[in-house]
Amino acid sequence: MKLWGGRFSKETDTLANDFQSSIHFDQRLYREDIQGSMAHSEMLAAQGIISQADKDAIQEGLAGILADIEAGKVEFSPDNEDIHMNIEALLTQRIGEAGKRLHTARSRNDQVALDFRMYVRKEIGTVIGQLLDLERVLCRRAREHQGTVMPGYTHLQRAQPISFAQHLLAYAAQFSRDVTRLEDCRKRLNECPLGSGALAGTTYPIDRERTAEALGFARPCGNSLDGVSDRDYALELLGGLSILMMHLSRFAEEVILWCSWEFKFVELDEAYSTGSSIMPQKKNPDMAELVRGKTGRVYGGLMSLLTVMKGLPLAYNKDMQEDKEPVFDALDTVEQCLPVFLGMIDTMRVLPENMRKAAGRGFINATDCADYLTKKGMAFRDAYTVTGQLVAACAAQGKTLEELALEELQAVSALFGEDVYEALKLENCMALRASSGGPAVAETTRQIAEIEAFIQARSE
Ligand code: ARG
Repeated sequence: MKLWGGRFSKETDTLANDFQSSIHFDQRLYREDIQGSMAHSEMLAAQGIISQADKDAIQEGLAGILADIEAGKVEFSPDNEDIHMNIEALLTQRIGEAGKRLHTARSRNDQVALDFRMYVRKEIGTVIGQLLDLERVLCRRAREHQGTVMPGYTHLQRAQPISFAQHLLAYAAQFSRDVTRLEDCRKRLNECPLGSGALAGTTYPIDRERTAEALGFARPCGNSLDGVSDRDYALELLGGLSILMMHLSRFAEEVILWCSWEFKFVELDEAYSTGSSIMPQKKNPDMAELVRGKTGRVYGGLMSLLTVMKGLPLAYNKDMQEDKEPVFDALDTVEQCLPVFLGMIDTMRVLPENMRKAAGRGFINATDCADYLTKKGMAFRDAYTVTGQLVAACAAQGKTLEELALEELQAVSALFGEDVYEALKLENCMALRASSGGPAVAETTRQIAEIEAFIQARSE
């Protein structure tokens, strides 16, 4: 018999019942649901809405249910539709009359809004922890490679010399933003919907400040309709996770390029590579490819929930039950990707000689050549043109700029002197880019210190 058996004289159709039941996925909210019911019943008793004895029975019953669920002893039933009704039914089965009083001054609408918010809040903490772990590894690897010269690219064409540290720290900067984005979401979501009731609050003298505080919220949400209708936090989470996956995916793409024979800047550890069933020589970057591929499903979750929400009149609509699976799937995906990615970066072998070799071809010191002439008094635009002519001449002869003899250089500008060769050395070109945020060692040292302080501030 359904909960609403009073109003109904017919059973729900079996297919329809399975169709609308959410217990197979929302059971993962059981902890939050029980925490919420604990706080609610405590408040009901404090306000004299239920008796102390009923409250005690409810709390004991809920604690027993929690222990049994954690011990794998509870089997949920689709006939009780969702986690909220399953737990309420279990409670009433176990403690009788008092169990039936728990739902006083509450609706499943504020209940589910509460559970989901608390779940998202908790998972944000997990993802932030994983991001900080990854940043720690990036700092460690960056410290090893502050002097490792590699070509920096634009348009995937060799552009200017940077260090491998600078490249890794660019990703760390992205992950720091992911952390603060999730922190923003967590801060904004931290208002308690419990007490919104079905939509219009309640006639009981409830104390929303009390439940909000007991459940770790900054305050109760200010509008009961909004309290049960708002899923912004789930969308913000999916938005934040989508951007995070975009960052991971770009990084994955570079790792895939770097370990190709065309680049060979890194070699992935065997523990993070796979072989081929037919080609004996293969060592494939499957982990990086999967991270890149899984980005799609996280974006999909964001699109799916945005679309679910777009036409819903206030307040609760059953459509909103479709909010959970995309969020759960996105969290599962991200929480799986981050530690695997960390392990891959932590163990990959960096090949500085190959990076240096690649840096040697492609005229990535051309800007430095133009800067040399500019510092000797030529206008930058003219220096740019002169250097362009030199590059064209070198390209025709298969030479690099520093392979030109001083006479050849002086033939295009008398400003060239012996010291140009020092200015064209890639190590110097990299080291002299000491402007704030640049790849010079002092600057990557500063970046590492900043990221470490960022991590430290969140590790207390
Ligand atoms: N399982 C529902 C959900 O996830 C709980 C809220 C149901 N409320 C209702 N009035 N049907 O959205």
